[in-house]
Amino acid sequence: MKLLKTLTILLVLGLTVAAAVIWSGVYNVAADDPHWAITSRVLEVARQRSIASRATDLDMPDLSDAALIRSGAGNYDAMCVTCHLSPGAQETELSFGLYPQPPRWGALGEIDPREAFWVLKHGIKASGMPAWGKSMDDYYLWGMVAFMQQFPGMNATDYRRQVAASPGHSHGGGETDVGGGDPHADDHGSDAARSSFEPIDDPMAVPEQDNHHDDDHRH
Ligand code: HEC
Repeated sequence: MKLLKTLTILLVLGLTVAAAVIWSGVYNVAADDPHWAITSRVLEVARQRSIASRATDLDMPDLSDAALIRSGAGNYDAMCVTCHLSPGAQETELSFGLYPQPPRWGALGEIDPREAFWVLKHGIKASGMPAWGKSMDDYYLWGMVAFMQQFPGMNATDYRRQVAASPGHSHGGGETDVGGGDPHADDHGSDAARSSFEPIDDPMAVPEQDNHHDDDHRH
C-alpha cells in the first residue's frame, strides 16, 4: 500500500511539473530550433515502427509496369518536387525550410515500396508530408512508388524525358475531389488514361526545370 501511495504522489508530481512546463511556454515549437538528439531518435523509431507495422500486408501491383511508372512520373513532377526535389533540381524554400526536412529524391528510391505507398497515402502527422490518399486513387499512388523505384542512378535528362513522356498530372479523386478535382475523372483506370505514351524522339528536348512555376515571384 505504501508503495502504491508513493507511486501515486510521484505520478501527480510528474504530471504537475509537465503541465507547468507546457503552460510556461518554455518549449520552443519553432521549425528552426531542432529537437534534441534523443527526441529526434525516439520520434524516428516511432515513425519507422508505425509505418512498418502498417505497411507489411499491403498488396503490391507490378512496379515494373511501364504505364504505371509513366503515370507516376507526371504526378511526381507535379506534386512532389517542391519538397523532395528531383535529379538536377535546386533546393526550394519548402525543401530548405521544412522541419523535419523532406528526404531528397535519391533517398525516396531506397525506401521499401509498401512503406512508401503507406506514407504517400496517409501522410505523416506534424511533418508537412500530406495524406495524398485524400485526393488520389491507389493506382496513381502506386504509380509514384513505381517511379520512385527508378530513382537510383537517374540523371536530370532521364528524369525530364520520363516526365515529358507521361500523361502529366493525372489522377483519380481518392476520397474527395479537392485540388481542382480530377480533370481526367472520366478516364479513371481506363486504358486511355494509362496509355497516352508518346515516345519523344529528341532526348535533348528537355523542358527547363522550374521549381517555382511562377514568374512573378520575387523576394
Ligand atoms: C510540403 C512538402 C511535401 C510535399 C509536397 C510532399 N512531401 Fe513527402 N515528405 C515531406 C516530409 C517533411 C517528409 C518527412 C516526414 C518525416 O520525416 O517525419 C516526407 C516523407 C515522405 C516519404 C517517406 C520517407 C521515409 O523516409 O519514410 C515519402 C515516400 C514521400 N514523402 C513521398 C512523397 C511524394 C511521392 C510526394 C508527392 C506526391 C510528396 N512526398 C510530397 C514533405 C512533403
